[in-house]
Amino acid sequence: MWAVVKLGVLFHLTYTCNQTKNEAIKSTVIIHQIQNRYKNDIIDEIIAFSKQVLHWNFRFTAHDLFDIDMSTFYLMLTSAATYLIILIQMDIAVKQNFKFSFSNTTFRIGK
Ligand SMILES: *[C@@H]1O[C@H](CO)[C@@H](O)[C@H](O)[C@H]1NC(C)=O
Repeated sequence: MWAVVKLGVLFHLTYTCNQTKNEAIKSTVIIHQIQNRYKNDIIDEIIAFSKQVLHWNFRFTAHDLFDIDMSTFYLMLTSAATYLIILIQMDIAVKQNFKFSFSNTTFRIGK
């Protein structure tokens, strides 16, 4: 139950950051269209704003360590799944009283 709530919060955070990033990229196109449509006295400001947005690498980061978007969420899910599989395999090995040999030494997992 606790894990589902935490996963939901994490999904909400990454999804929101992803969508905001996509909207910022979309706004570049929209500003360009506005620039083409209106040839009036505010055109200089529109061009300046357009250039500013175009060169703005919009993204959310965790203190510049990594980007926060959907790829972060998928990475966390796959890492958790990998560790879960390792734990399940260890559990199965313990239950089967698993033994294996490595350079004349026998290792034993379980009782
Ligand atoms: C996340 O953003 C990428 C583009 O940066 C987009 O292709 C993808 O559909 C988005 N994912 C979701 C779940 O909205």
